[in-house]
Amino acid sequence: MCGIVAYVGPKDAAPILLEGLQRLEYRGYDSAGIVVANKGLKLRKVKGRVADLAAAVPARFKGGLGIGHTRWATHGVPSDVNAHPHLDGEERIAVVHNGIIENADDLRHRLEADGAVFASETDTEVLAHLIARAVKETDTLEEAVRKALKSVVGTYGIAVIDAERPDQVVVARNGSPIVIGLGEKEMFAASDVAALVRYTRQVVHLEDGELAVLKADGFHTFTMDARVTSKEPLTVDWDAGHYDTGGYEHYLLKEISEQPETVARTLRGRIDDRFHVAHLGGLNLTPHETRAFRRVKIIGCGSAYYSGQIGAQLIEELSRVPADAEPASEFRYRNPVVEHDTLYVAISQSGETYDTLAAVQELKRKGGRVLGIVNTVGSAIARECDGGIYLHAGPEVSVASTKAFTSTAVAFALLALHFGRVHDLSPADGRRICEGLRRLPDQIEQILKQDEHIAALARKYATNPSMMFVGRVRGYPVAREGAQKLKEISYVHAEAYPASELKHGPLALIGPEMPTVAIVPDDELLDKNLTTLGEIRARGGQVLMVGHRTPDAKLAEDAIVVPKNEIELDPILLTIPLQLLAYHAAVALGRDVDKPRNLAKSVTVE
Ligand code: AGP
Repeated sequence: MCGIVAYVGPKDAAPILLEGLQRLEYRGYDSAGIVVANKGLKLRKVKGRVADLAAAVPARFKGGLGIGHTRWATHGVPSDVNAHPHLDGEERIAVVHNGIIENADDLRHRLEADGAVFASETDTEVLAHLIARAVKETDTLEEAVRKALKSVVGTYGIAVIDAERPDQVVVARNGSPIVIGLGEKEMFAASDVAALVRYTRQVVHLEDGELAVLKADGFHTFTMDARVTSKEPLTVDWDAGHYDTGGYEHYLLKEISEQPETVARTLRGRIDDRFHVAHLGGLNLTPHETRAFRRVKIIGCGSAYYSGQIGAQLIEELSRVPADAEPASEFRYRNPVVEHDTLYVAISQSGETYDTLAAVQELKRKGGRVLGIVNTVGSAIARECDGGIYLHAGPEVSVASTKAFTSTAVAFALLALHFGRVHDLSPADGRRICEGLRRLPDQIEQILKQDEHIAALARKYATNPSMMFVGRVRGYPVAREGAQKLKEISYVHAEAYPASELKHGPLALIGPEMPTVAIVPDDELLDKNLTTLGEIRARGGQVLMVGHRTPDAKLAEDAIVVPKNEIELDPILLTIPLQLLAYHAAVALGRDVDKPRNLAKSVTVE
């Protein structure tokens, strides 16, 4: 949430900052700004998109040191003044910040009592004033930043420059990511490697409680109590091409279309045909330890949570170990009972979602064993967990999660296979699942070929103010994810219910203006689902059935038929048409598909 970029080196900082912000815009996009040091601080910031900022930056905006920010508002409305960077009253110090300063009101009152005059409503501006005061009492900028941060309660990833030291930028992290990019006689920093890969693939991740001073010829890192830390640079696998739209109109369509390949990457090297098991070396669990877990608890937020519901179902079905999923944002606040014989699994595409990270930290604090299913290598959640599975789905830029969702479900299928085969899943069933997993990429390809048919359905149904999504058992998380995708990017109201619950309340909503998308796989619950369709039709409701067969016209007026896999794996395939349905509904309604209103890609605040 929000994007930070910083540069120090021989080139002009402004174009590098603007390019970096463009890459980070998916993290927040209500306002943006940059500041460059050159005989004082030169600042430009605007409400709106990075393109609006670029138009406002004059051609002669020279200087080899600068910081920039793209914002998702927390304190104060989106506006020019609330946009970052924030300066102190004397315009000496400039700060960009991701996160939330929880004691900002208190600090602001103290600073105002001491003569500070604030320009914005933001929590960040207190940092600029605090550092500006501290810098007069200390020998270095890093000391001033450390001193200021000691009075701060909350989360931050910050970058700070001082007009009187135009050769350096100081960055610090506590709960909000900062990555340093190592160049040739130039240094970069950002909240996300997306902003760096055009310039360097050598990066260093700051840990919580760490700071760094970057100068053109190098950097050093240290802790809040000034202990020097040593860091090993990592090489990022992804290059700038992974962050382009690749000729597609939207990132979302590109990411939906990539799924045959991304699912294949999640599976690569992880299926063992000798014993029909999954190879998951990163779990760091012996078979003995795996057998000892009596329960699996899965946590994640939003779509990650829904993929966790698919995962829980897979684990229970294949291993008969009880499993359930819960929103991490709820779990962390309810003083959870942490059991030594429960395996906890945290899911996050970004690896930075604050609620999920906080839940993992709470689990670790209580001695829980936590695995991560994460897409972003080296991210905070990945580093916090005891082991896990990387998705290898490549960067997901569009705010709505698609390829990470399917890859997470596939990773769960592998984990469930692993659990199953150390328990009582037979070799024959292990083989059946392995073969089913291998069929997924081609079957996804076949579903994608129905794009035009699904687009026509989307145009038809998007005119309704509201839609119901229903599914039973394996189909229910699919329905929830379908409703989530639709509301998130098209703003059409959507509700998801277990089909079995319709009669207990929501059936009252059904009528000609409330169509239902029904997830109806060919499984042991088919007849029950068809009965539900009859009940909806009897109340005048339209039905779009997503399943494995063309329905009787009396039960559904429209259908999307997907290829059949093994019943346990079918939810993965049933999700794909719902992604396309939401995408085309959003396009038909003229929505900003990749950057839906009020949302941001990774939610790094509470
Ligand atoms: C998905 O479409 C949403 N944008 C959102 O629910 C997302 O899945 C959630 O915020 C979790 O993100 P994470 O996977 O990066 O932790």
